[in-house]
Order: sequence, then C-alpha cells, then structure tokens
Amino acid sequence: MSNSTCTDIVVVGSINADLTAKVQRHPEPGETLLGSGGTVSAGGKGANQAVAAAQLGAKVTMIGAVGTDQMAGEALTHMRQSGADMSAIAIVDGPTGLAIITVSDDGENSIIVIPGANASVTAEFVDKHSQLIENSGIVLLQGEIPADGFERAVDLSQGRVVINLAPVVSVGHVQLRRADPLLVNEHEGALVLDMLGTPATTSDPQGLVAELLNQGFASVVMTLGAEGALVGTPGQLTEIPTPKIQAVDTTGSGDAFAGALVAKLSEGAGLIEAATFAARVGAYAATKPGAQASYPTLTTELPSIIH
Ligand code: RIB
Repeated sequence: MSNSTCTDIVVVGSINADLTAKVQRHPEPGETLLGSGGTVSAGGKGANQAVAAAQLGAKVTMIGAVGTDQMAGEALTHMRQSGADMSAIAIVDGPTGLAIITVSDDGENSIIVIPGANASVTAEFVDKHSQLIENSGIVLLQGEIPADGFERAVDLSQGRVVINLAPVVSVGHVQLRRADPLLVNEHEGALVLDMLGTPATTSDPQGLVAELLNQGFASVVMTLGAEGALVGTPGQLTEIPTPKIQAVDTTGSGDAFAGALVAKLSEGAGLIEAATFAARVGAYAATKPGAQASYPTLTTELPSIIH
C-alpha cells in the first residue's frame, strides 16, 4: 500500500545513543568481566519503533528530543534514512539519552537508560505539537519519557492509542486504559496489573492477558519471545507463532515488533494480521546486532513461520 493511503502514525518517545558491550555472560553484582564491542549506535524505544515503522513504509512522525552533545548525531543516523518525519525533534541543552547495554553470547541483553534530553518531553513540550497529535490516526507511546508528557499525548489523541509500556513506569490509569492494544511482555503485563492495584493471580501468559482485559483494555498484545505472542480482545485469545531463529542480539527486537505492528495497523490490517507480521519482523531483528541497525525494510526477506 502506498503510504499516502496509510493512517498517520505519531511516536512520542525516547531517542537514545546505545553504548553496547558484548560479554560471554552477564556479570553478577560486584563482578567485573571483560567484554568487547563498545560501539555506539542509534536506539531509544521511541526512536526504534518510529524507524521500524517508517522503514516498513508507514507515514511516521517522531516527537522527542536529543541533546547538544556528539551522541545526538549517532542517535539519529538511522532515522535520517528511514523516511520518518524528524521536524518535531527538538535539540535541548545537555546530553542525549544514553543506554548502556550488555549483550551476552546467547543474544540476551540488559539495559540501563540515562534519560538525558528525553526528560524534557514533558506535557509542556508535547503541547507544542498538539495539532500533529490531534490529527494523527495512531499515537504510539512507550515508558521512557516523563509521565506527564505521556499522559498529555494520550489526552490529545483523537485516534487510536497504542502503548508499549516498556519500561513499566507509573502513568495515569485513565490514559493507560486508552491503549488499544496494550503491548507488553509477560513481566511487564504483571507489573501493569500491580500498578492498577490488581496484582496478577497467575504467571500463565494467557491468564495474564485475560486479567489485563478484565481491567478494561480493548485489546492486549503480549510478546513471548521465542514462543511468539498472544493477541487478546474481550472473549477472544489468539496465539501468534514466531519463526525459529538463532538469536544474535535481542536488543530492540520488541521495538521492531511494535513498529511493525503499528505499520500494519496503519494500513488497515486487523490486530491478528498485524501481530503475525510483527512477530516475523521482531524475529528478523534478533538475528542481527544492534537495535535500528537490525531492522528490515520493505524489500527484506523475513524469516517464515514453519508450522
Ligand atoms: O528496547 C531497546 C532500547 O531500549 C535500546 O535501543 C535502548 O536505547 C533502550 O531504550
């Protein structure tokens, strides 16, 4: 579908420079390990999702901020080529958001985020882009900007709100319940239930999706890594398979899933079709190092689901 017929997507979120070290295994508390790598690349959950969606042909505008340091250039390298509209990205005094990432031999990552310029994406900042948000068909949010900026973006939205609450931070319950879908992994799903004051009574993913739906979400998409994903709507739960791949680096593969999901939704696809496509995109991203550097374009051959 040509992107002139797509719904506009606005991503209000973080932009980071990712400083990545490769290690055989993750260090224990108090332990020093030798690693390799030390490269800086483009990241941030907001930027990753915007780039993923734009590279798949969606019409995307990014609202966010970078600092005045050299990291800003690194953080925006991929977005510049992705086709995303960057005119609502501000440059604010101080450092760009920085993520310190370790990736182990089995492809698993651990991440610490220092917000830097992302901390300036407040309600006042978001208000400057009120028209853009009001006119967009889909607003996509994560948990790496201040809660008041997140909440204002939801309040301004007149279309669909997709929320990937990663990390799970405290945000207004009214705004959070606008999510359609709420996109979380199992761990985040349980934390969201805690935040809503109704702790999970199960660790079973299907049960968690049911409990989230009971909290009033119109739809829930739960990513389960190598096990695929679940799509839940009231009265219906669908298992989404994922291709079997050899994971090299899972950094940003959840963001690739989120970007692909909204890209498909913006074309008018239903949630199950969109999640099925997103699972293949997320799996592809895990086969390559880095976040945005691992994302496919429209011409990439994605791994297939073998039943
Ligand atoms: O989801 C992966 C992302 O989390 C990284 O790119 C890092 O910047 C953090 O935001």
